[in-house]
Amino acid sequence: MDFKQNINKNKLPKHIAIIMDGNGRWAKQRGKERVFGHENGIQAVRETVEAAGEIGVPNLTFYAFSTENWCRPKKEVDTLMELLVSAIKNETPELLEKGVKLSAIGDMDSLPKSCLEELNEAIDITKNNTKLNVTVALSYSSQWEILNAVKQIAQQVKEGTIEPEDIDKKLFTNYLQTHDVPDPDLLIRTSGELRISNFLLWQIAYSELYFTPVLWPDFRKKHFYQAILDYQRRERRFGKT
Ligand code: IPE
Ligand code: IPE
Ligand code: MG
Repeated sequence: MDFKQNINKNKLPKHIAIIMDGNGRWAKQRGKERVFGHENGIQAVRETVEAAGEIGVPNLTFYAFSTENWCRPKKEVDTLMELLVSAIKNETPELLEKGVKLSAIGDMDSLPKSCLEELNEAIDITKNNTKLNVTVALSYSSQWEILNAVKQIAQQVKEGTIEPEDIDKKLFTNYLQTHDVPDPDLLIRTSGELRISNFLLWQIAYSELYFTPVLWPDFRKKHFYQAILDYQRRERRFGKT
């Protein structure tokens, strides 16, 4: 079946968020170190960005590293950070050419300096692009993001610039790092795990969830299109009848 051909271009999700999971298991299946899976996950990111560009999905968010992932063995964390630096460096020209604007969410202060520098440079180089927004969640956790928002709002209340009764959904959303992208219409998680793992908890209130057993390094355009087709078959009710 040609998944891409069957997609209704008038009903595309405006934002797809992806929990890229299963790199370690993919490597283990091949008798290799977990890092081998992370290396091979880069091709899946490339394909997904390309697929989104081809079909016209305007926003993508990739969960690349969670706050909790810092608790993995130091060697894996260090290699992941190095991989990130080299991936950003290598991919930036391609992103630029494809009209991709790169952004990042998460606790940037916790990233190694080299990683942050490379990331900031890529963000700056691509800042005028408008075709596709790609956000990477790095050292990100949703509870961290929400607590941060709460702290900032509390400070404003203390200073008298916000009244408690002014705090509504719109105001709160503005204090989240994702304030300039619409909430995800579709959330994809690979590797068969059926959980959210501290990702975009506020933002996915009404997202459609799609779980696939495909391990992240095996994820290709056809899998992305398949997820969109599945999404388009659903009826989104938002609590109405
Ligand atoms: C996802 O793959 C990548 C990151 C979380 C950084 P994993 O490394 O979690 O792979 P599995 O889930 O152990 O197979
Ligand atoms: C979620 O995957 C985080 C990322 C994909 C970056 P994990 O592999 O860390 O999540 P758990 O441990 O299975 O919940
Ligand atoms: Mg995992």
